Amino acid sequence: MVKKRACVFISGKGSNLKNLIFHSRDNSFPIKISLVISNNREANGINFAKKYKIPYLTINTNKNNYENKILINLKKFNITFICLAGYMKIIPNNLIMNYHKKIINIHPSLLPKFKGLNTFTRMIKEKEKKAGCTVHYVSEKLDSGISIIQKSFFIKNTDNESDLKKKTQKLEYRAFPEAIIKIFRKY
Ligand code: GRF
Repeated sequence: MVKKRACVFISGKGSNLKNLIFHSRDNSFPIKISLVISNNREANGINFAKKYKIPYLTINTNKNNYENKILINLKKFNITFICLAGYMKIIPNNLIMNYHKKIINIHPSLLPKFKGLNTFTRMIKEKEKKAGCTVHYVSEKLDSGISIIQKSFFIKNTDNESDLKKKTQKLEYRAFPEAIIKIFRKY
């Protein structure tokens, strides 16, 4: 199979990036991670790009025209698919237009519940019964694009924020690759 050339956007730890790199080594996995973009020069995830010899780029999103820099590099590396894995910035509209239905994001809640930040704090405060993660297409509205896959678990009375995070991330490591396989199975 010819793998799609994908770029993963990160801002921090990069454990989802690491997991996707691991999956993409399988010949039957639909994407090859061909570029990593981080808005944060200190992001730990960059170390995974280095370790696995994947080209990476850090972008200063405070600079004018940073969107074009991203776009130029995506074209330069022939990227046709984008995964947002803990990328903490809004994706500019020109990128969404250029990569229509080609950008997916992983979010640590069962969308449409708990869009945005601090999902676990809010879940505990609101005494939610279920938590989980969603992989969805990226649209102009934050955390609102069509859902591809969700995975959930029941919250225990004893779960604190860090428990919820751990349990959610465990599900994310299954949900992200499964969503990618599901998308490309259609073609
Ligand atoms: C994940 O929990 C994801 O849901 C959220 O940011 C976190 C990124 O974690 N969008 P990591 O950097 O992949 O470890």
